[in-house]
Amino acid sequence: MSSKGSYAFLDNKPAQQEMAREILAGLKTQPKTLSPKYFYDAQGSALFDQITELDEYYLTRTEMALFDTHLVDIAQHLGGNVCLIEYGSGSSVKIRKLLQTVTPAAYVPVDISDEHLQANARALHKDFPALNVLPVCADFTQRFELPAAVADMTKVGFFPGSSIGNFDPQGAQRFLENVHATVGPGGAMLVGVDRKKSVSVLEQAYNDKQGVTAAFNLNVLTHINNELDADFEPQQFSHVARYNPQLGCIQMFLRSDVKQRVEIAGETISFVEGEELHTENSYKYDPDEFLALADSAGFGSLAQFSDSRAYFTLYLLQAR
Ligand code: AVI
Repeated sequence: MSSKGSYAFLDNKPAQQEMAREILAGLKTQPKTLSPKYFYDAQGSALFDQITELDEYYLTRTEMALFDTHLVDIAQHLGGNVCLIEYGSGSSVKIRKLLQTVTPAAYVPVDISDEHLQANARALHKDFPALNVLPVCADFTQRFELPAAVADMTKVGFFPGSSIGNFDPQGAQRFLENVHATVGPGGAMLVGVDRKKSVSVLEQAYNDKQGVTAAFNLNVLTHINNELDADFEPQQFSHVARYNPQLGCIQMFLRSDVKQRVEIAGETISFVEGEELHTENSYKYDPDEFLALADSAGFGSLAQFSDSRAYFTLYLLQAR
């Protein structure tokens, strides 16, 4: 590649019929469920950015402090000719820190929300003109193709913010196996993971006083209305978030405040009063639990970094 960085967009966005099929299948199960990936339209991504600034939501600022302290060390572990693959195109603050310190040859953000993805990627291309910025619009919970231009680079997956906790443990293992297949033996992964801790700290983080998390949760219904010609009335649902100690995760729901029927893509879904539509799990892992999961997906630990309260851990994993 030339010394002037390139910009190329690869569109593997799933078809709208696939979204309708998946959403209807989830709404026909008992209990009803929606994949958290549908939170992230442009409005949902903006609300999530606001969540990361909330006093109660310690995750982002704790991870950021770990970055500030340990990025130089992480960059030394990674070496040169790196292709950094970001799963989800998230907070540009974190990725900017990483790009400045690791100075990869290419940056491949992968996200299902093409507007958010392209807006972030274009801004980074402008600010890091020597960097090859190669966004891929795809559902990263499935396997996807990397741009051909990165074939001979060392691939490093980047999955910050404890987003891995939004899979159940089997899903997290499958995801890590997919990352392993993408980065290949000798490749690496940098992943941030929220830890188990006091239930009140956890529950406050998902029930903020300003109601931003509630708006984020409810916005999934507006997203479905916009994409699938549905008629959810978000004001007829309430945000619920509680810790499930058996599963070790925060669970979010939208509780139907009334008995109601909703039309979605030509089908009718009925809710009874008080029925909870499950929208998200956010698993919390102690280090031994997480390293066992990574090991079962073919990753060993190169290094790990935790804060003094033991709230959050950043793992640098290497693919065997
Ligand atoms: C993106 N993910 C890690 C967040 C979490 O904490 O599970 C999403 C979120 N849901 C409610 N607040 C934040």
